[in-house]
Amino acid sequence: MSENSKLRDLLTDAAERGVAYRESVAERDVAPSAAAVRGATGFIEPMPNEGTDEKAVLSMLDELGSPATVMMAGPRYFGFVIGGSLPVTVATNWLTTAWDQNVGMHEVTPATSTLELVAMDWMIDLFGLPAGCAAAFVTGATVANFTALAAARNRVYSDIGWDVEANGLIGAPPVTVIVSEETHPTVFKSLGLLGFGRNRVVRAPVDNQGRIDVNRFPDINGPTIICTQAGNLNTGAFDPVGEICTIAKPKGAWVHVDGAFGLWAAASKDLAHLCSGFAAADSWATDAHKWLNVPYDSGIAFVRDTAALKSAMAITADYLMTDTEFRNPSDFTPELSRRARGVDVWAALKSLGRTGVAAMIDGCCSNARRFAVGLSEAGFEILNDVVLNQVLVSFGDDATNRKIISEIQNEGTCWCGVTVWQEKTAMRISVCNWSTTSEDVDRSLEVIIAIANRQ
Ligand SMILES: Cc1ncc(COP(=O)(O)O)c(C=O)c1O
Repeated sequence: MSENSKLRDLLTDAAERGVAYRESVAERDVAPSAAAVRGATGFIEPMPNEGTDEKAVLSMLDELGSPATVMMAGPRYFGFVIGGSLPVTVATNWLTTAWDQNVGMHEVTPATSTLELVAMDWMIDLFGLPAGCAAAFVTGATVANFTALAAARNRVYSDIGWDVEANGLIGAPPVTVIVSEETHPTVFKSLGLLGFGRNRVVRAPVDNQGRIDVNRFPDINGPTIICTQAGNLNTGAFDPVGEICTIAKPKGAWVHVDGAFGLWAAASKDLAHLCSGFAAADSWATDAHKWLNVPYDSGIAFVRDTAALKSAMAITADYLMTDTEFRNPSDFTPELSRRARGVDVWAALKSLGRTGVAAMIDGCCSNARRFAVGLSEAGFEILNDVVLNQVLVSFGDDATNRKIISEIQNEGTCWCGVTVWQEKTAMRISVCNWSTTSEDVDRSLEVIIAIANRQ
């Protein structure tokens, strides 16, 4: 067999296996069986001395790996805030992987860096962010928060005459970081990585939906960074970012918005009011692997002050093509080398268009409301105002909730996770997969209600 025939044979085999997997996701049990999970231990072996035939490697992966996956790509996975992947994004992701571009520098990867630039401008437009703000394609909202807050750190310190990139934080004047009682844990991780400290923060009180209560907002004195949220992990609620900006901006504070999934509400006419005033903030983080339904991993940071982001992230070295008229992607990201993840984002936006994105977001929210109505009519307590795609339901006390959730997960029709909301255990349903239909919701409701009523 010629090298090209072997290549075609291998890649076609992979594509066929991938297609077969995707064709089955809607009907397989959402959680893998215990036997399948045990089967995946078949991968564990000492580092092999001799190689294995490439097709045998692929077949081992499919035979042991595929059955042990959770159907996150399927329509009835409602755990965490995960999202699936639009078929076009899987297809373009495969092609982009075949290209194997390192998208650090424009001149060596003109196609991918141009596509990323286009995708970035489209999202700035879609979210109504200030034209000309900078963007960075990163692994997810955790790193997007980190990236945006690194720019914030640069700006607040340069405002007080301290070069934080050169001098670090040892001996630096203090900066106040205001978070909320409901700030996502990954923001604290970013604050730790940036040297601000995970615990050296001021916590703004929140209301019963987890929104910052502006009437009890802490006083702002001196250099300050404020971390707000669009889309609470449990309730889907939005901080009043516009009002916070009105208080904070005249005092020179930097306002950051963690919009891991919530920022996508800005793309829907019916939901855009939730993001009102957001454009006044300084930085925003979001995920494409959640609600835009592109393959993992894919997050984006947006920063109004391009110079602050560049100062925090740019690398200079004689061997790098840094002196260029083009936008070098690595000037904006923590990484130098990385995959061209913006291409998947471009493909999703190109194939859906503005109306398609809005329809996907609206469809998920409508299915979330359908869950809430169905569960409430069945007599169960909905703990949140269902303003977005997140639903919190309680079936009773802590032990009852945990037992029911575990049985739902084991039954296989759908998968929902456990959470604790304002000291009450609950089941969280997150609808953010492009392929979930109202029939999927009804099918899941039937199982959830039957299991809950059996207790
Ligand atoms: C509000 C919020 N911020 C940040 C994150 C972290 O996102 P990622 O896991 O993509 O890094 C999440 C994840 O669910 C989230 O909901």
